[in-house]
Parts: sequence; C-alpha cells; structure tokens
Amino acid sequence: MKVAIDGPAGSGKSTVAKQIAKQRNLSYLDTGAMYRSVALTCLEQGIDLANTQAVIAQAQAIDIRFEQGDTGQRVFVNDKEVTSQIRTAQVDQNVSTVAAIPQVREAMVALQRKAGEKIDVVAEGRDIGTVVFPHAEVKVFLTADASARAHRRAVEREGGNAAQQDVATDVAEEQRILEDIVRRDNIDSTRETSPLVPAKDAVHIDSSHLSVDEVCAQIEKLMDEAAAKKASELQAGAVMDDTTTVTEQQPVAAKDSWESYYETKVQDFPLHARILLKVLVVLCNAYTKIKYRWTIENLKTLLVASADRGVVVIMNHVSFLDPFLPACAMILAGRSLRPIYKDDFNRFGILHWVLPRLGAIPVARGTADVKALRRAQRALQKGESILIFPEGTRIRRPDQVPQIHGGFALMAKMAKTDIVPMAIVGALDITPYGKHYPRPKKVYCRVGEPLSFNDIKAKGRKEQVVEMERIATQKMYELRDQLMAEHPGRK
Ligand code: DC
Repeated sequence: MKVAIDGPAGSGKSTVAKQIAKQRNLSYLDTGAMYRSVALTCLEQGIDLANTQAVIAQAQAIDIRFEQGDTGQRVFVNDKEVTSQIRTAQVDQNVSTVAAIPQVREAMVALQRKAGEKIDVVAEGRDIGTVVFPHAEVKVFLTADASARAHRRAVEREGGNAAQQDVATDVAEEQRILEDIVRRDNIDSTRETSPLVPAKDAVHIDSSHLSVDEVCAQIEKLMDEAAAKKASELQAGAVMDDTTTVTEQQPVAAKDSWESYYETKVQDFPLHARILLKVLVVLCNAYTKIKYRWTIENLKTLLVASADRGVVVIMNHVSFLDPFLPACAMILAGRSLRPIYKDDFNRFGILHWVLPRLGAIPVARGTADVKALRRAQRALQKGESILIFPEGTRIRRPDQVPQIHGGFALMAKMAKTDIVPMAIVGALDITPYGKHYPRPKKVYCRVGEPLSFNDIKAKGRKEQVVEMERIATQKMYELRDQLMAEHPGRK
C-alpha cells in the first residue's frame, strides 16, 4: 500500500507519517529531506543557487541514502551523514529555490518512485499524491494554520516536542519562522512545476487543533478502508492490476527487513541467507532421502515448466515434511521455490527469522490477504515459483474435510502463469494422527501436467479463476488417488 501525505511545512506530515509507518510496519519516505540534501550539497560546495545548471548537475549526481537509526531516520549524502545539517535555518531558507527547478524535481521524483516501487510506503512531501504516486491507495492533504505550524517548528528548533501543546518559545524567533513559512508556502504553491496543491482525490485534514494520535487515527482509518475495498475487489476478481512493474532496484527508503526478503529475489538475498538456505537444503535433502526414500515422479515436467518463468505449484498437505520435498528438488535443480505459509508461524520468533530467509511468504488465513497475493505475484513475475497448499492446513484425519482456499488460481491469473498440480502420499504414515515421533516410511510424490488459463473455457475473469481452481484441485486429488491406488494402505 502507498500512503501519500502532502501538505505545507509544519503541518505535522513528518511526525504523523513516521508514527504510521512505525505502527503499520511500512517504510517511511521523507521526500523533503531529499530536496534539502540537494540544497545542502549546493551550499557546501559554494554553488550559487541562481546557477540553475550547476544545481541540476548536483541533483542528477547526488547519492541519497536513508538508514533507520535508534532515534529516527538518518540521512546520508554520498555516504556522509547529513541528518542534522539538512535542518538548519540556512537550508530552510534556500531549499524552496532548489525545489522549484523542474529538472531537480525530475531527478528527485525518479529516485522517490524507485524508492517506493516495490514496497509499502508512507511518503510525505508536496507532490506525492499528484505526481510521485498518483495511484496511491490513500492520499491525505494535511494543513494547519500558519501560526500553529510556526509554533511547532519553533518548539522543534528549541529541541522540544512539537506534538506537545502549550510549550513556550522565543517570540521573535517564532515570528521569524512564521514569516519564513509564509514565504516558503508562497514559493511552493505558486511554482510552475508540481506546485503544492491537493490531489483531487485527497482527503483534507486540518491538524491545527488535533493531536498527533488523532491525525494518525484518521489516516489509519482511511488505510483500513482502502485495504478492505481492495480486498473485496480482488476477491471478486474484479480488479487486477496487471500493470504492476517489477524492477530489481533496491529501495532508497529505510526498509523493513522482513519486507525485503519477501520482495527480493532469493538469489539476491544477503550472503548469510543464501548460505543458510543452501546448507539447510543439502542437509534436509540428504536426511529425508535416507530416512523416507522419497521420490518425485515427473519432476522433469515441473523443471521444464519453471525453466524460464515462475509457476504456481499446488499440493495436498498431510505432514510437516510436505514443503521440504518439492523445495529440495527444485532448489537443488537451480530453481527458486517460495512456499506460502500461514502467518501464525510468525508468532514464534525463530520461525519469523528463518522462514523469510528461506524465501517463504506468509499469508493471513481466513482473509483475502492482498499483500501476500501481491508478493507472490511479484515473485512469479520475477521468475520464481510459488508452492501453495490449497487445503490451508494439514489434513491428518479421515473425517477432516478439506476446505479449499482458491487464492492460488487468482495468484496464477494475476501473474499470467500456469499452475502445476502435485500430490504426496505416504507422508501421513510418518507421524500418524496422535503420534509425534517420525517413523521411516517411504514417501511418494507425483507431478501433473501444467494447467494454463488459455485452456480454460469460462468467459469472465472471475469465472476463469473459479474454473481453474476447480480443475486444478481436481487434478491434484486425481494424482493423490493414483498414488494411493498404486501404494495400497499408504496415506
Ligand atoms: O517537508 P520539508 O520542509 O522538509 O521540505 C523541504 C522543501 O522541499 C520545501 O520547501 C518543499 C520542498 N519539497 C517539495 O517541493 N516537494 C516535495 N515532495 C517535498 C518537499
């Protein structure tokens, strides 16, 4: 989700955006800090801001990086920390001139889009909802009286907490800040390129007499409404944004570490995660092969189907062993297979640490988890395959009726790819119902033919997804029944 918060200086954008990003575990993008970084670099290098070409050259060459520090976001320009230097009165007085240059804006907007491209982000600035992320799900235009804004800035300058009301400040200094704010508002809202104007679909919030928590609550309500709307649209198969572009760029904004594992290709994971995955796969493969002598029939079909694109692999689910077998086989053959797991596991610290590093993607069961769908879609579009258990949970007792979760068909449809059905038999005999210790029993898997949406006869998009869900599930159970018939008594 993209949340765009625009508004004039001192309206409380930064405080509110940071708080929401923290509460909702999203990245935070401070676009004002980027214009400030350009202004600072020019001032430090003695560049006359009237020399537009020189300023543009700086903006086009600048390397800005954000890092999450203990006390807030830190800003680096060409690897040198400038967190406090970009907030001086001198930068305040000059930044609007820099931000009014169209080519500077172009360069910054390109960086900002790159930063927010693959991630959920709360971005604040002046043109986020109108230019940077015009398709943001939530757009807010935050305002406040000029005097309230000047007071907040004055409190901040004196090292106080602007969120607290009734803090005394130096009256002359506050007056000077007020004049500067009015002057900057004027430049920002009358400049030719991307002036400070609310997006047509932005929700206006006046923060003059609201606390930070009250503003955040209003915005979070908008976020919940947007997420619910999107979920219901997706569930109905009505809206599918096939235009989502996927690039390999790393975000500039500080990123949540889990988020980066879900969004980055497994082969681009940090070295420690790649080593962890390889070691676990090799050990797990050797151990399970010796203990359960498992085989995957027609594995070649799966390897061919996933050779130059990602596919959605579906499998019945009876035991803890199930995800390991296709994952070992695929990964050792040079493919990437990302299992979808229920996010309940993330409650266990060690699993929350390990599973993302193995490429697994969490899903909230019982809801239309749009986030998980999108993550899977993006992985598929990058050529990685997804392993999903449509039964949602292990089916361990004969009287347990599987409830099929159809998300897998929607996922394949969104990523325009095939579904490969697969079945496993014998794994339930390893730990039969009521038993805990694994016993050495042979396990059999079989891969079916890939199923393509091109072969689905149904007309509408929603009908195609429903039909694919039905056919793919049927194929998966056919494979399972074949294996059961060939290995009587095995489950
Ligand atoms: O939000 P701020 O005070 O840190 O912004 C610094 C300057 O940058 C301000 O003069 C407006 C400009 N700016 C902009 O033009 N567009 C943005 N998206 C963000 C900031």
